[in-house]
Amino acid sequence: MRGRFITVEGTEGAGKSSNIDFIRRQLETRGIDVVLSREPGGTPLAEEIRALLLRPREESVCQDAELLLMFAARAQHIAALILPALERGSWVLCDRFTDATFAYQGGGRGVDVERIRTLETLVQGSLRPDCTFLLDLPVELGLERARKRSVPDRFEQEKQAFFERVRRSYLQRAMAEPERFAVINAGEDIEQVQHQLLPHLDRLQALRNG
Ligand code: TMP
Repeated sequence: MRGRFITVEGTEGAGKSSNIDFIRRQLETRGIDVVLSREPGGTPLAEEIRALLLRPREESVCQDAELLLMFAARAQHIAALILPALERGSWVLCDRFTDATFAYQGGGRGVDVERIRTLETLVQGSLRPDCTFLLDLPVELGLERARKRSVPDRFEQEKQAFFERVRRSYLQRAMAEPERFAVINAGEDIEQVQHQLLPHLDRLQALRNG
């Protein structure tokens, strides 16, 4: 049977890494073969594109160049990793996917949503995540957490207002597709966040059986 495609989204400092690790372990405990990946990235070529996208640079990057690089990385990721894994029955657990493009390039940068939809169809065909966890928290709290980490990349250098727009776009998408999205309050302690994740993981297992 074809595997399921699970994505995890959120703004800066939402705790994606530790929660993805928790989700992976929970799925594996349930006997599911999980392939972990991330966007932009996930294959050697896509990781090179990621490095190009994240590196801070003097030259201002035009919106379409950023958008097309995101989808170029995605095309390679889908062809070389996501589809083969799903076809052999593994589940793909991906740190960000196209919802991030709608949120960051659409909401954050102001790219017309129709342009993103066109590329989504072109690059993905009918491929969409089966379930998306949105780790949501107040932007200020997330930025405070993120500041304690490494040197900011090109996106992390953006101002608070940018991330407020990103958060709003994510929440709008979650409201528009409540069946696919699980919105998690990521402002709580890690144990409480995990507690929120568990019923959704049970629901995912039902997906597998169904
Ligand atoms: P992250 O791995 O720390 O989440 O970094 C990836 C960055 O790339 C993050 O700031 C969000 C950004 N991004 C976009 O702007 N658009 C996209 O489509 C994706 C996948 C990520």
